[in-house]
Amino acid sequence: MSDSSQAGMGADITSALLEVVERAAVACAHTMGQGDRHRSDQVAVESMRETLDRVPIDGRVVIGEGERDEAPMLYIGELVGTAHAAGAGRDAAALPEVDIAVDPLEGTNLCATGASNAIAVLAVSERGGLLHAPDIYMDKLVVGPSSRHAVYLDAPVRDNLRAIARCLDRKVEDLVVIVLDRPRHRQLIADIREAGARIRLIGDGDLSAGISAAVRGSGVHAVMGTGGAPEGVLVAAAMRCLNGEIFARLVVDTPEKEERCRSMGITDMGRVYRAADLACGRQITFAATGVTDGTLMRGVRFFGDGARTNSLVMQTSPQRIQFVDTIHLTGDSNMVVHF
Ligand code: FBP
Repeated sequence: MSDSSQAGMGADITSALLEVVERAAVACAHTMGQGDRHRSDQVAVESMRETLDRVPIDGRVVIGEGERDEAPMLYIGELVGTAHAAGAGRDAAALPEVDIAVDPLEGTNLCATGASNAIAVLAVSERGGLLHAPDIYMDKLVVGPSSRHAVYLDAPVRDNLRAIARCLDRKVEDLVVIVLDRPRHRQLIADIREAGARIRLIGDGDLSAGISAAVRGSGVHAVMGTGGAPEGVLVAAAMRCLNGEIFARLVVDTPEKEERCRSMGITDMGRVYRAADLACGRQITFAATGVTDGTLMRGVRFFGDGARTNSLVMQTSPQRIQFVDTIHLTGDSNMVVHF
């Protein structure tokens, strides 16, 4: 690791990372409601790939769009950042070496249908600070800071809900739990209903749901169920910044998946990971921009001469959380800025 990476992610890197997610969100927001999730994803990926090369880092993608042979851009292992951009000079050797987890468009269907909570997102850490998770399912339980020491992945749903309610000083009936609306969650949904908590079933997007669970006032108190492992690592990076917690276990239900895990250095298939295991870096930076309107961020709004975005930028060291409202003007403009 170079000296600059040990000194922390500089303000120039953080603002460049913000621009990466802002631009990806603006790019795919143009496709909102067009009904073509692949196209929405493609424009977000292309935008993110291009702008990442303007970030002053020596970056390596550890969570991306897939393996090299299946993803032309942002594949696992791809090198990004100014250190690897065309024409990089000798100074490139001094840039911080970082690992990057990206999800250029989390909730491709949400964007394609104009539904809420689609986001563009990434997380960065010093090398080795983010788990190389295979693209398989993961059982997850995400809670906020107050209940992080009171719940367990394998505890009965009723017990976890009682513990969360106690920590939040309210009744189980007052809790809202987000669950992906999938047939595999039939029993989970029945258990939550039996315990008396309220449920918000979502079509997609357990990553943005997980972030909301760690923010008081969002109206979300937990996320439960099985979703993508890459999204789990990104949630873990956000939890490190927000003091929330994710409990997670990879779903390794075939020999092929076990083989895939082993090839990525994972040997304990039953391990319950927490945020500090999935995102163990000392210096985590997390950035997300709303594509469609969501719980924590508004979606991209376009007007004649530009666009307006809402983002969340966080880091662990020093711990800082920023909600960023940006107006992007295109070309010469006499536009009047509204509050
Ligand atoms: P995409 O961004 O690829 O559309 O995935 C969204 C998502 O809903 C995630 O939030 C979630 O973790 C995963 O897909 C669930 O997978 P599945 O749709 O197979 O249940």
